[in-house]
Amino acid sequence: MKNIILVIIMYILGSVPFSYILVKLVKGVDIRTVGSRNVGATNAGRVLGFWGFLVAFLLDMSKSFVPLFILKHFCLYPPETLLILGMVAIFGHTFTIFLNFKGGKGVATAVGVYLAVSPISLGVAFVAFILVALLFRMVSLSSIIAAIVLLISVFYLESSTFLKIATLFVVVFVIYKHKDNIKRILNGTEKKIGEKIG
Ligand code: G3P
Repeated sequence: MKNIILVIIMYILGSVPFSYILVKLVKGVDIRTVGSRNVGATNAGRVLGFWGFLVAFLLDMSKSFVPLFILKHFCLYPPETLLILGMVAIFGHTFTIFLNFKGGKGVATAVGVYLAVSPISLGVAFVAFILVALLFRMVSLSSIIAAIVLLISVFYLESSTFLKIATLFVVVFVIYKHKDNIKRILNGTEKKIGEKIG
């Protein structure tokens, strides 16, 4: 019963569409009608600038990180359980009950999950993210490459087979959510960092 309640809490927390709320509050605009139309921090940044991106990112990250941090350090939950609950939060973010089940791509929420579950793997993925962002100036491409590097890092750094398999699911899911970005990257129309929205 306790675990079912935790799953429901994580789903509802993950569902909170902070990028949508922030853009609506600050600019009165529906984020689903501008830029990439994605309910995520990158798109919030296109409307609100760097600080808007940062606030949206930190909020989307915290909604998974804070509860998992509490469960890890105060309730001593094992990483496997934390990752299952984290996956529920990522699922909530991407299929949010608050916006007719059409949410974001799960990157910031996944960052919060891995910050709690496997911080060193996340650190390696973050370095990859920064390098790709500096080279190609596309958040989507950086996220996709960072997700792949995260998977490789988890395979090398974690001993739990469950963590490895579950991370494979997370990474395939996050990359799948970027399918429209992948099409735009391939046909050269993906927006670069700092590029004005049309
Ligand atoms: O976190 C999502 C990011 O990787 C891409 O966002 O708005 O460019 O589709 P966006």
